[in-house]
Amino acid sequence: MILKSFAKINSLLYVLGKRPDGYHELFTLMHKIDLFDVIEIKKNSGGLEFGIDVDELNNQDNLAVRAARLFFERAGIKPQVNIEIEKHIPIGGGLGGGSSNAAYTLRGLNELFDFPLSKGELFELASKIGSDVAFFVEHGSAIAEGRGETITKIRCHTDGFKVFLAIPNFSVSTALVYKRLRLTKLGGLNKMALTVKEGVCSMDELKNHLHNDLESVVLEEFDLLKWIKDLLIERVGNGLVSGSGSCIFSILGSEVQAEEGLKEQLEERGVLCKTLNFAEEILR
Ligand code: C5P
Repeated sequence: MILKSFAKINSLLYVLGKRPDGYHELFTLMHKIDLFDVIEIKKNSGGLEFGIDVDELNNQDNLAVRAARLFFERAGIKPQVNIEIEKHIPIGGGLGGGSSNAAYTLRGLNELFDFPLSKGELFELASKIGSDVAFFVEHGSAIAEGRGETITKIRCHTDGFKVFLAIPNFSVSTALVYKRLRLTKLGGLNKMALTVKEGVCSMDELKNHLHNDLESVVLEEFDLLKWIKDLLIERVGNGLVSGSGSCIFSILGSEVQAEEGLKEQLEERGVLCKTLNFAEEILR
């Protein structure tokens, strides 16, 4: 079985406070994009074999390995698979690559072993692995609340929009960004978040109200990211750090043809992709 393990961007991310468990209470709107890692899962005669083409990720702590272990434990099945991952999603870029790999491993194993677990059980396992994992268990764009594990699908039209993604050649630690965040400086949910919750927004509207409470911490720390954000705003009219960075994206309207010049200015560290639609996600 070969699976595409898609990346995400956050078009809205509000931090609403600190939780008793040390994590932060979130409201975030996420979209899958057509940038993906490839996961191959094959049944074997026994054991859990894992390999990934990036040395620093090739170990038993990898979230995909954790996902597989939890899956077999919960399903009461003896582990009997080889899992191979080919990485394309930047690491530490705020695009949810590791979480995506874990979620698609859960989804793939469940299918390969004839669906021993319900969707509810997959969500439960996902939230044990990491805050972003549950989002990737669900199809399409969705709001994530709580620590990130409470997922609500949205009715807004946000599929199939062109996204310009700037990919800096360094990663950012999510834990560090949350640690540096000054909660007193945040403003809570704004009107756009409420509009999305009610299901009456479009990407054309959303792209003018992009918001990320983590962004100021990231931009203060990295001058290059501030420069990229300013460039995207000047050229495209919008730009936002995804998650805790380091990647920055712009939502392109159909009229914008700015991407070629942008790629040159970013010395080829820019890619053009788009938000996925339902059909593209389930085809593989
Ligand atoms: O859950 P995950 O391992 O992806 O989170 C990485 C780090 O980000 C956590 O260790 C925590 O410091 C921070 N985090 C947070 N609140 C969240 C999600 C993540 O403080 N809702």
